[in-house]
Amino acid sequence: MIPSITSMKDAFSLKGKNALITGGNRGLGLAIAKAFAEQGANVAIFCRDAKKAAEAIDELKPFGGKYESFSCNVVDLQNVREVVAKAWDAFGGFQILVNNAGVTCVSELLDMDEELSDWYRVLNTDLNGTVHMTYEVGKRMRDAGKGGSIVNIASNAAFIVNKTQAMSPYSCSKAAVVHFTHCMACELGKYNIRVNAICPGFTNTDLSQFIPKDMFDYINNQMPLGRFGEPIEVGALAVYFASPAAAQVTGTAQVIDGGYILSC
Ligand SMILES: NC(=O)c1ccc[n+]([C@@H]2O[C@H](COP(=O)([O-])OP(=O)(O)OC[C@H]3O[C@@H](n4cnc5c(N)ncnc54)[C@H](OP(=O)(O)O)[C@@H]3O)[C@@H](O)[C@H]2O)c1
Repeated sequence: MIPSITSMKDAFSLKGKNALITGGNRGLGLAIAKAFAEQGANVAIFCRDAKKAAEAIDELKPFGGKYESFSCNVVDLQNVREVVAKAWDAFGGFQILVNNAGVTCVSELLDMDEELSDWYRVLNTDLNGTVHMTYEVGKRMRDAGKGGSIVNIASNAAFIVNKTQAMSPYSCSKAAVVHFTHCMACELGKYNIRVNAICPGFTNTDLSQFIPKDMFDYINNQMPLGRFGEPIEVGALAVYFASPAAAQVTGTAQVIDGGYILSC
């Protein structure tokens, strides 16, 4: 069993922990990587864009831990298998996995191409990528016998049909990630591995700069808290789920969206 904290001292510390973050080279993944590094964790980043990865590692260096990026396509199970093995050896194991890599598409189903390529691209990355990483890292965590924390980055789109943009593959894959989180919490609890999901709403990343002003204003008006989230706020929640403070928390899906799903 995972012991409870006995005081608040170091309850949110990740000192001495090794974290693997997919898509940690930019956006929310980089914010999570920085939040983890600031709390003392060593961080491995899995992504495809080597230039962005190098920039991310440079941003992490001032925190003083071990940071390394690995080229990996989470869609490709064989590639995941090889790169997880390499990173596991380089870090001497991981106690934290954040499944953050994701893509989206904005299109109604009937407007998609004949091959439904957008449908498969989003499901293959957001859902199957999460499954591939959980399978490969989860087996190693189990065999290492030290427990662990898996944090899946889903979305508030798992619970709503977004009126501003049609995105059924994204919503369905994120809904599946939430239920995968429930299933894995039950399957992996006996190995002291906790599994939780974070469901962000509209958050200020590179992508949000392309939202037209009238839509941006509409969304902010719908939100009880009246503003987009900041990436560091998602990082803070990920720190909580990965930390000793959350030792009794598994199988949850925490929405962080300024209350948007309650009023959209
Ligand atoms: N931003 C938001 O408002 C928001 C809201 C709710 C949920 N989310 C979720 O949060 C996560 C991060 O979103 P974001 O806004 O930070 O996205 P982003 O800036 O577009 O970054 C996506 C990340 O995923 C990685 N990635 C995509 N496909 C991959 C693949 N096949 N293999 C490995 N890495 C891959 C990218 O790596 P490369 O650079 O190497 O391609 C990149 O690091 C996603 O799961 C997203 O659905 C975001």
